[in-house]
Order: sequence, then structure tokens, then C-alpha cells
Amino acid sequence: MYIEPYHNFILSFKTVLKNIKARGAFTVSIADAAHIVEADYFGVESGNRVADKLKNSGLTASRSEMVDAPVINEFPLCLECEFVEYQDSQYGCGVIGKVVNVTADESVMVGDKVDMSLVNAIAFDPYTHGYYKVTERVGEAFRDGVAMKKE
Ligand SMILES: Cc1cc2nc3c(=O)[nH]c(=O)nc-3n(C[C@H](O)[C@H](O)[C@H](O)COP(=O)(O)O)c2cc1C
Repeated sequence: MYIEPYHNFILSFKTVLKNIKARGAFTVSIADAAHIVEADYFGVESGNRVADKLKNSGLTASRSEMVDAPVINEFPLCLECEFVEYQDSQYGCGVIGKVVNVTADESVMVGDKVDMSLVNAIAFDPYTHGYYKVTERVGEAFRDGVAMKKE
């Protein structure tokens, strides 16, 4: 999890970091295009300001079976992580975690693998403040470039 070094973000992140350290865990839920409004709400409201941010969003959470952190039920994919370390420098700060489990909605699974084209994940463009869908598989990693390699 990378946190940009914006002053107000850092202030808000202090509570999150305290919780992550206390539990030794965190989760990264991947929001999909069907939940843009809720995902944006999580970013524009602070749990320091309202009593129950999750309840206000209309979404629900379950306790992860692997780590002491919540999994948002309505988001299709969730990385469940053990806290490894917190890093802070002049370029920003971040939390390093070990992914110990991935939970995925049945609807995004093909066989025993997650199919990212079914997730409809959203990505954030910080320059134009837009959300974009990440959908189409456009290549094969570690393979498409091999043909260009010289012997
Ligand atoms: C689109 C978007 C992107 C954001 N990116 C970051 C980010 O990179 N780092 C960060 O610390 N906060 C970021 N924020 C702000 C936090 O999500 C915001 O401070 C949030 O209210 C924190 O909630 P909390 O106080 O309940 O933890 C972003 C918010 C939005 C809407």
C-alpha cells in the first residue's frame, strides 16, 4: 500500500497505521466499476469524522478467516495481508505486507484462477482525477517480448 506524501493524507493515515500495527494485519479490497460511488466515498470521508463509515456506505464486511482485518463483501477481490513493516521517507510512506490469502467472488473465477477481465476493477488517475475500468487482457507477461530478444 503506497501513501502519497500529502500532509492531510498523512494525518488521516496515522489512525489507519495505528490500527494496522495493533492488528498486525490489513486487507486491500479491489473495488469494481459497479461500486464507484462507495469506493470514492471511502476516499472522501474520514472515519475520524463519522461514527460508522462502512455502515454509511451501505456496504458490509466480514472478518477475514486468515488475518485480523475486514473483507468488504461487495467488492470482488480482496488481498489479505500480514503487516511486515512501515516505511517512511521524503518521497512518501508505505506499508509493506505479506499477502497470505486472496478471496474472490465466484463470479470472477474461471476454474481455480481469478480472471481479471471479469473483475471490472477500477484504477484511479491522480492527474485528471478519473476512475477507469481495468478490463481487457492485452498480452502475455514474460512471453510477448521474448521474440525481440537477441541470442
Ligand atoms: C481518489 C482518491 C485517492 C486518494 N489517494 C490517497 C493516497 O494515495 N494516499 C492517501 O493517504 N490518501 C488518499 N486519499 C485520501 C484518503 O482516502 C482519505 O484521507 C480518507 O478520507 C481517509 O479515510 P480515514 O480517515 O477513514 O482513514 C485518496 C482519496 C481519494 C478519493
